[in-house]
Amino acid sequence: MYNRRKFIRLSALGIPLLYSTKSIAGALNANTGNQVGSPIVISTWNFGIEANAAAWNVLKNGGRALDAVEQGVWVPESDPQNHSIGLNGYPDRDGKVTLDACIMDEQGNCGSVAALEFIAHPISVARRVMEKTPHVMLVGEGALQFALEQGFEKVNKLNPESEKAWKEWLKTAKYKPVINIENKSFAPKKLPGNQYNHDTIGMLALDSKGNLSGACTTSGMAFKMHGRVGDSPIIGAGLYIDNEVGGATSTGVGEEVIRNVGSFLVVELMRQGYSPEDACKEAVMRIIKRKPETAKEIQVGFLALNKKGEYGAYAIQKGFSYAVCDAADQKLLIKGKSFY
Ligand code: GLY
Repeated sequence: MYNRRKFIRLSALGIPLLYSTKSIAGALNANTGNQVGSPIVISTWNFGIEANAAAWNVLKNGGRALDAVEQGVWVPESDPQNHSIGLNGYPDRDGKVTLDACIMDEQGNCGSVAALEFIAHPISVARRVMEKTPHVMLVGEGALQFALEQGFEKVNKLNPESEKAWKEWLKTAKYKPVINIENKSFAPKKLPGNQYNHDTIGMLALDSKGNLSGACTTSGMAFKMHGRVGDSPIIGAGLYIDNEVGGATSTGVGEEVIRNVGSFLVVELMRQGYSPEDACKEAVMRIIKRKPETAKEIQVGFLALNKKGEYGAYAIQKGFSYAVCDAADQKLLIKGKSFY
C-alpha cells in the first residue's frame, strides 16, 4: 500500500497548507542545461528545518554548498536534545558515544570518520580528512588522534538523558533496532527526554553556481555493539554526490543501506533518468525484495536531489519526514511516501 504524499508548509501563522506539486523556477545554464541561481537545501527528519536554516544562511549569500552542508549539520550535532546525532547521542552498549560522519563535494572529493569519540563536530573532522589527508576515511583512535592534531577539542562527557536511557537499557540489554519514525506515539516508552527515535541527518545542497555537496552525521544505533559502524560514514551507502547528476543520502538501519550501496544506487538511477522520488523508491524496493521479512521490522529512508534542484524521498515505513529550504520557502516539511 502506498501512502499519499502530503506537502506541509509551516507558514508564519503555523497553518498547514497542502501542495500537490513543487516546481523549481530558474535560469538554465546555457552550456550545461543545468539549473543555476536557485539554491536549495534538503535534509532528513523534522530537525532538518533548523539545520536547513543554518545551511541557507550560506547559500542565500552565494556561498558554497560544501560550507552550507557542514554548517547545517552542526545544528543537530550541537543540540543537547538530539540523542541520535553528535555527542549528545545515545551511547553504545559499553556506554561510549561513537560518531560516524561523511561529507562529499562537487568535485567528487570526500572525507569520512567512523567510531570517533569525544569530538563535538565529526562532520568537520570528516571535512579535514577530505581536505588535509590523502585518505577518505579515518576510524576510531586514528580519527581521534587526527582530530586532536587538527586542533579539535576533546569533550569527555555523556549527556545525562542519554546516560539515563543507557542505564535503563542495561536492565534488559536487549539489542533490537527500533523503527525510526517522526511520530512521538511510536517512540519507545522507556526512553527519557526527547522521545523521537529517528537517527541520522543527511543533508544535500545545491548552490547558486549549480554545484552539489552533501553531509551525513549520526551517533548511530542506540546501544549498538562497540565498534559497530553504520551506513552514515560510508561513501556510496549513507551519502553520494555526483555533480553531473545529483546527490542522495539515507537514514534508518545502516546495515541494509550498506548491503545495497543505497545512496550510490539512487544517484545511478537518477543518471538513468529516474526522478529523485522514483530512484529512492527503487532503492527501497531492492531492500524489501532482498529481505522482505527483515524489511517489515526496520526503517530505511532515502532522500535525493538532482542537478536541476528537483527532490524526492521514499522510505520503507511511514513516518519519514524531510525538510526543504529554498528561496520560496525556508520551512517546508514533507512527509515522504513509503512502502508500508
Ligand atoms: N543510519 C544510521 C546508522 O545505521 O547508524
